Amino acid sequence: AGPAASGAAGTCGRSAEAAGPADSMPTSWAACSMAGGGGEVGARAVSSPPLRGLQLVQQGAEARLYRGQFLGRAAVVKFRFPKRYRHPALEERLSRRRTAQEARSLLRCRRAGISAPVVYFVDYVSNCIYLEDIVESTTVRDYITSVQQSGKDTNNLFLVAEKIGEVLARMHDEDLIHGDLTTSNMLLRPPVEELDLVLIDFGLSFISGLPEDKGVDLYVLERAFLSTHPNTDALFEALLKKYSTTSKKSSLVIKKLDEVRLRGRKRSMVG
Ligand SMILES: Nc1ncnc2c1ncn2[C@@H]1O[C@H](COP(=O)(O)OP(=O)(O)OP(=O)(O)O)[C@@H](O)[C@H]1O
Ligand SMILES: [Mg+2]
Repeated sequence: AGPAASGAAGTCGRSAEAAGPADSMPTSWAACSMAGGGGEVGARAVSSPPLRGLQLVQQGAEARLYRGQFLGRAAVVKFRFPKRYRHPALEERLSRRRTAQEARSLLRCRRAGISAPVVYFVDYVSNCIYLEDIVESTTVRDYITSVQQSGKDTNNLFLVAEKIGEVLARMHDEDLIHGDLTTSNMLLRPPVEELDLVLIDFGLSFISGLPEDKGVDLYVLERAFLSTHPNTDALFEALLKKYSTTSKKSSLVIKKLDEVRLRGRKRSMVG
């Protein structure tokens, strides 16, 4: 996806935002029937994205992911469905905020030259975000697992770890905090050898220049990384080393990371 694609995405997103409530949406959107067949587009919560022919590919705790075509392009649609255990007003606010945050941060990444899916369209009525499908990509999680299980040379894993360190340093230098860093929220575009790392899942992201927030972001990743992938201490160390040499402000961040680790350890000793 080149600059043309991202330009088109910007226009799409803005027009969706400007469109406001369902009754002022472009008729082609409002006229779309629900993928699931039921429900209606309106102020009330909807149960699936308003576009035909989407295939459900993943059902998560917070969102459903669909795959399909959007204006002729391979797209994924992330739909934050209404959770029944939350108060409807709170639910609506949370879903809307996460959808908005996800769109904003993806655009911020792309503006800064950090690989992230193009935002095709944002629908605040149903809290759906239409993104570029990173076709045939694999999550870093699956990649690490498959290399570890294959017993192949793990040298490539060090290259991937360094790439993650570099990309996160650039993201943090933009004062963007991801909020949910895991190896499932990073994709590798094929061919994997090119190390085109794509960051996704920015629903919990926020803007902050504080070393503490960046340190916590890395701590969250460290916990997820080491618990998902056994015997990867050296790999994570390589990641942090690359982070430190790439980021202009890394020393305060790593200091905070050390503090947060210590706090975590104290907490687990107290119980
Ligand atoms: N743009 C994309 N292209 C290809 N695959 C994607 C894309 N976005 C997401 N995926 C796939 O779907 C999975 C889930 O997506 P994502 O992480 O955005 O949602 P989630 O984790 O369910 O969200 P939440 O944080 O709300 O629980 C990813 O791990 C990845 O495998
Ligand atoms: Mg995710």
